[in-house]
Amino acid sequence: MLTGEMERALNEQVNAELQSAYQYLAQSAYFESIDLKGFAHWMRIQYQEERAHALKIYQFIIDREGRVKLLPLAEPVGEWESPTRAFEAALESERDNSRRIHHLCDLAMGEKDHATLAFMQWFVNEQVEEEAVAYDLLQRLKLVADSNAGLFMLDQELSQRTPAPEAADMPGA
Ligand code: FEO
Repeated sequence: MLTGEMERALNEQVNAELQSAYQYLAQSAYFESIDLKGFAHWMRIQYQEERAHALKIYQFIIDREGRVKLLPLAEPVGEWESPTRAFEAALESERDNSRRIHHLCDLAMGEKDHATLAFMQWFVNEQVEEEAVAYDLLQRLKLVADSNAGLFMLDQELSQRTPAPEAADMPGA
């Protein structure tokens, strides 16, 4: 069973993952608007994965006899100066999310809540990967410096992305 404080913190993390999904969907729409379909596809898969993260925590709250409470979402940012700026925002958002996950782990440790701590380890590892991928793509975008030829090649590559299994299995993925 969860403590009241842990239940509140996990519900806030459900909200953070949904907010992140919403933001990635806005980024996907931005890339559609500038005809970079591969980037838009990549961001849309990111949106699906964030929804899957939210549902993973949602289910965990229920499994631990907690009460899910859905919180409001803010309007996402929808415009950037360039693809590079959009990826800078994505990386910053992933770093923020890592900090939130680590804070949840600290809370679980403080409460000696081993079940939540074990559950959150998946997210700790996932964040390492998410930050690494966003960082790599940002560095490559900086290298092509928004040149049309470079963006076209990267767009082709990003169009090949397939969803992670937990996101692919979701209804409406
Ligand atoms: Fe679910 Fe990208 O953090």
